[in-house]
Amino acid sequence: MSRLSLRGLTKDYGELTVVDRIDLTLTEGEFVSLLGPSGCGKTTTLRMIAGFVEPTAGAVEMAGKVISSPGSVLPPERRGMSMIFQSYAIWPNMTVQENVAFGLKLRKLSAEEVRRRVGQILEVVQMGHLAGRYPAELSGGQQQRVALARAIVVKPAVLLLDEPLSNLDANLREEMRFEIRRLHDEFRITTVYVTHDQAEAMATSDRIAVMNAGRIEQVDAPHLLYTRPRTRFVAGFIGRTNLLEARMENGEIGLDGFGLKVAPTNPEPNGGTRPVLLSVRPQSIGLHRNRPSGPDGRPAVPGIVAQRVFLGETWDYVVQPQGNGARLRVTAPPLQVHEVGEAVWIDFDPRQIAIVE
Ligand SMILES: Nc1ncnc2c1ncn2[C@@H]1O[C@H](COP(=O)(O)OP(=O)(O)O)[C@@H](O)[C@H]1O
Ligand SMILES: [Mg+2]
Repeated sequence: MSRLSLRGLTKDYGELTVVDRIDLTLTEGEFVSLLGPSGCGKTTTLRMIAGFVEPTAGAVEMAGKVISSPGSVLPPERRGMSMIFQSYAIWPNMTVQENVAFGLKLRKLSAEEVRRRVGQILEVVQMGHLAGRYPAELSGGQQQRVALARAIVVKPAVLLLDEPLSNLDANLREEMRFEIRRLHDEFRITTVYVTHDQAEAMATSDRIAVMNAGRIEQVDAPHLLYTRPRTRFVAGFIGRTNLLEARMENGEIGLDGFGLKVAPTNPEPNGGTRPVLLSVRPQSIGLHRNRPSGPDGRPAVPGIVAQRVFLGETWDYVVQPQGNGARLRVTAPPLQVHEVGEAVWIDFDPRQIAIVE
């Protein structure tokens, strides 16, 4: 019963509201990331969950019990939570084995039980052969594995991680993402993971809460955030996108100047005409030398290649569609080469157009 709930959770520092009425509920065993730019309130939210910071308003609940509210905060050590910080802070004067055993000894387990559990978790994080080493004799990635083992070995009800990989180099960061998810699949500890790195959040999480200026803008599974962003901020923060002004007319999207009509996947029942903003991913736009005549009747418009960059895995083109001032980013595979100034056709997959606020 480790259901974790944030209800209207708010933190003010003086005049400044840094966490603003956050609602979020994790099911037992769920892995949720708080993702957003630096300063958006991620760490403050995590510290309120851990009990280090008192909320100004709202509450943190565990299994239906309020554990944080204004004026009443259950101390961190009585929450059954483990937290890992950016600077992983394993004790330099203790060996790997001693670091991991520390929390278990505090819980007064028998020496035999401590040895068994430490040995087991060190095998899981592939550090068994280094149990006698001191932190100074380990690489950054190995130290991070020790920090993870130490946090998990006590079987916390909730695991909290604050940018745990940001001190590692790029290759190791990528490896550790998968490692963190593998550990989660093995132990199913309810986890809140703070990061500003969208790839990290996507690789590890069941759901991602995208934060902007103290608010949660959207909470969804990674692929839904990408394909169905609901706000301009989310569309731009998760991957790259084209934002296009358009009109909603009687349940169809009219793209200004293109003379195009697209039936959206999420039409509105109440007709009428109003301006809308569309998010169209660069790789969802088809790029063609001749007018496409696909059987699916996708809307197509002519345009000119205005710019291009070769990125190895893709070409990154900028296409100016005829009759519209837009400059669309369009990605294409490496063998699809177009020159700057070339006349091309682009077409849109209606299923991959999202209406955003
Ligand atoms: N103790 C504090 N006193 C005053 N302002 C704070 C304090 N802690 C954080 N802040 C401010 O709150 C905002 C959010 O900070 P933080 O939660 O650390 O963001 P993030 O982790 O997303 O980078 C920042 O503008 C930060 O300067
Ligand atoms: Mg932070």
